[in-house]
Amino acid sequence: MLYVVGVGPGDPEHMSIKAVKTLERCDVIAGWRSVLERVLQHHPQLGVKELVFLSYKNQDDELRRLAEKSKRRDVCVLAHGDPTVSDWEFLERIREAAGDFAIVHSVSSINVALGKLGLDLAHVLFVSMHASSPQDPLEAARLAARKRALVIFPPPRPDGPVEVAKRLAPEFAKCRAWVLEELTIADRIWRGTVEELTNAEGHFSDLSIVVVDCRDA
Ligand SMILES: C[S@@+](CC[C@H](N)C(=O)[O-])C[C@H]1O[C@@H](n2cnc3c(N)ncnc32)[C@H](O)[C@@H]1O
Repeated sequence: MLYVVGVGPGDPEHMSIKAVKTLERCDVIAGWRSVLERVLQHHPQLGVKELVFLSYKNQDDELRRLAEKSKRRDVCVLAHGDPTVSDWEFLERIREAAGDFAIVHSVSSINVALGKLGLDLAHVLFVSMHASSPQDPLEAARLAARKRALVIFPPPRPDGPVEVAKRLAPEFAKCRAWVLEELTIADRIWRGTVEELTNAEGHFSDLSIVVVDCRDA
């Protein structure tokens, strides 16, 4: 069987008990190097398993090999956070290679961001620019029609949050904005307006979430 196992957004205590138990059951564990190394750091007993490090270059070949192995053994493929949040391209690759698989959930960075700002999923619109065809935050801001806050995964670059702000500023400059960096790891929060974010000095982490709230602007 092939499992796609969410491992939480950083802090190992955000990994579900089901995720830990599934990893213990698997004979083979695969994942991006940064994710796999983080899991091994907190669960060194998993180091005895067959480990497969995925990269952008080898992922299609390795996923085909993992699919073949999963016919006879239990194989776990790791996903950062929860696999149902902004990992659709990765899941499509796995589906192409393996057909069916089971998802094992953990906490997503989205849950932590909402909790930090006191927001509910029903009151926000989620936009992911962390994809090869990124979604457009300006289109989402217009759709939200000032009734929902926007929760945005910016492009994973140091200036990603500033790019988001520049896209929104012509129509939504006065809205409140936050950048939540390295949730559950370093937990830094930048606060200001969209306009101020366009000028924010310094570089943000690749692990950042931008929240924009125009409801009282
Ligand atoms: C490809 S998406 C995967 C998200 C993951 N499936 C989840 O549930 O969190 C990666 C993006 O999630 C956001 N992210 C993930 N972990 C984060 C964290 N600890 N702090 C802030 N943002 C995070 C960043 O925007 C990052 O570029």
